[in-house]
Amino acid sequence: HSDPMSMHPRLSVPAWRPAARRGFALLLAGLALLASGPAQAELTIRFAHVVAEDTPKGLAVKRFAQLVAERAPGRIRVVIYPSAQIYGDNDEIEALQVGAVEMLAPSLSKFGRVGVPEFDLFDLPFLFDNLAEVQRLTQGPLGQRLLAGLGRQQLVGLGYLDNGFKHMSANRPLLEPIDFQGLRMRVQGSRVIAAQMRALGAIPVALPFSQTFDALQRQIVQGTENPLSNFWTQRMDRVQSDLSLTQHAYLGYAVITSQRFWRSLTNSDRALLAQALRDALAYGNQIADQQNDKALSALRRAGTTQVHTLSPAQRTKLRAAVQPVYEQLGQRIERTWLNDVQQVLGR
Ligand code: LMR
Repeated sequence: HSDPMSMHPRLSVPAWRPAARRGFALLLAGLALLASGPAQAELTIRFAHVVAEDTPKGLAVKRFAQLVAERAPGRIRVVIYPSAQIYGDNDEIEALQVGAVEMLAPSLSKFGRVGVPEFDLFDLPFLFDNLAEVQRLTQGPLGQRLLAGLGRQQLVGLGYLDNGFKHMSANRPLLEPIDFQGLRMRVQGSRVIAAQMRALGAIPVALPFSQTFDALQRQIVQGTENPLSNFWTQRMDRVQSDLSLTQHAYLGYAVITSQRFWRSLTNSDRALLAQALRDALAYGNQIADQQNDKALSALRRAGTTQVHTLSPAQRTKLRAAVQPVYEQLGQRIERTWLNDVQQVLGR
């Protein structure tokens, strides 16, 4: 057959992608196939994610690959595809379900769209005051129950990873609800985040992470929200003149695999991978804050984007404006989820 991809139909890429990007993705996938020949390793785990390597997620995934290489040398190999090189927000979960990759770490905001809407509660604005509160949820029984829900989509949730708190950016300071009026804001595909932007008077536009810089540059959207490490490593400072330290909501991840892949492993490999991942995630959770602090310093040094701090009164106004979002989520998911979260947080 003359079409080399026909050997591996699972690596087909949706037709809407621009040709150049598709060519690049196919090239990478082809190289991965060559590199993962049977002589190299018994088991290759392809791990795709959408952010840069120098982020909490990028570094935690790298650590996972290192630990696996140390603990199963030459036998199990983790190949990482960062920066949405082969799969991004629109197709990565499907790629996992059909077996074109083995592991992903999507943000928790991306599970509602694939049929597990209770994850949207992580997006509630002003729900968590700090990462310790997030971890009370993610590292406890409620966190486990949420991960178990991924089984409804034939997925296995292996653990949580923090990034941190998001801040608002645009080409003007965003300090109070009035500043958001009519602004088109890029969001992840989460209904809570969309509702949050609407409650502030903005227009949410859901776009894949890998298209965000471009969309900002071409003024398709005028602003967005990010933790500092994502803002800086995507160099959004080149296309956003103002970043306001709103710290309004959390961004974190769940590492997932498919039931099919997970069940195909021997018990001992499964245990080895689960432990390596636990260790890598503990490391990632420990460096997340630090990475975001480093990004803020770098951003301040670059001087390209003005960084604004909110007064307590301004933050209170933002918080008041987004309150309807809680009620809206309460109508979409079982009430017990929200009650249980409030209880874990002692509210
Ligand atoms: C986003 O789409 O903004 C984030 O989920 C990207 C990421 O993985 O941190």
